[in-house]
Amino acid sequence: MNIQFEHRSSALQPEASAQQNARDLPGAHAPADAPFRALLDAASQPYRKAGRFAYKFARGKLRVDPVYRAILELGLLQRQQRILDLGCGQALLAAWLVAAARCYERAIWPRDWPAPTQDQSVRGIELMPRDVARAQRALGPACDVSQADIRSAAFGAADAVVILDVLHYLDAQSQRDVLKRVHAALPPGGLLLLRVGNPAGGLRFRITAYSDKLAMFFRGHGFVATHCRSIEEWRELLTECGFDSAAAPMSRGTPFANVLLTAHAR
Ligand SMILES: C[S@@+](CC[C@H](N)C(=O)[O-])C[C@H]1O[C@@H](n2cnc3c(N)ncnc32)[C@H](O)[C@@H]1O
Repeated sequence: MNIQFEHRSSALQPEASAQQNARDLPGAHAPADAPFRALLDAASQPYRKAGRFAYKFARGKLRVDPVYRAILELGLLQRQQRILDLGCGQALLAAWLVAAARCYERAIWPRDWPAPTQDQSVRGIELMPRDVARAQRALGPACDVSQADIRSAAFGAADAVVILDVLHYLDAQSQRDVLKRVHAALPPGGLLLLRVGNPAGGLRFRITAYSDKLAMFFRGHGFVATHCRSIEEWRELLTECGFDSAAAPMSRGTPFANVLLTAHAR
C-alpha cells in the first residue's frame, strides 16, 4: 500500500509532502514516550469503571491505533469546538480529547505536538446499547452518547464530524445519505474525518475486512455484510456530497489497510 498524499484542503498538509508514504506519517511512531503514556493512562483509566473488557479494549486501541495519536499530533481537530462522532463505539475519541486537555493543563504534553483545544464538546451516536452503556459508565454525566442508528438519527450541528471504521457497514445508498446529512450538519469549511478500508491494500485489506466482520460479531451484530469502495470511489462520493478531500494512510503499526480521508465542506 502506498497511497500518494495529496495537497488539497488538508489539515495534514504541514506534515507531509505529496510523495510521503505510510512510513513517514505521524501517528506511525512507536508510542513509547512518557507524555504519550500519561495520555494513554488518563484516557483509559475511566474505563475501569465500565469493566475489565472496556478498560483493556480502550487501552489497547488507544495505544496501537495510529489515528488517535495522529488526531493530536497533527492537531486534526484543533480548531473544532463541537465534534460529532458517528458510530462512536464506547466513546474512545471523547475520552481521548478530554484526557488530552487535562494532560496539557498539567504540562504533561509532547513538546512538538500542538496544544489541544480546551472545552471541546464531543457528541457520540452509537447503535449498540452495550457500547453506549460502557461509555456512560466510564465517562459519567459528561458523556453525551446516544443510542441510535446513524441512518436515521438527527445529527444537529457540528464543527467537525468523525466517522472511524463505520460507513462500510451501511449499504451504498445509506452511505450517500449519511454523508449528505453530515454535510448539512457542518458549516462551510467544516471538517469530516472519515476512515475507511483500502481495497487496494491486498492481504492487509483482507485482514481488515475479516477483522471488521469479527468485531461486529463480537459486538452482537451477527455476521454483517460490508460495502466497501476504493479510495477513489470514496473521494468521488465525497465530492458528490459537497466535500473537498485528501487521503492519507492510517494504519501504520497494525496489520490493516486503512486510509483517513480528511474532507472539508464546500
Ligand atoms: C469498528 S467499530 C468503530 C468504533 C469507533 N468509531 C472507533 O473507532 O473506536 C464500528 C462501530 O460502528 C457502529 N455502527 C455500525 N453501524 C451503525 C449504525 N447504523 N448506526 C450507529 N452505529 C453503527 C458499531 O456498533 C460499532 O460500534
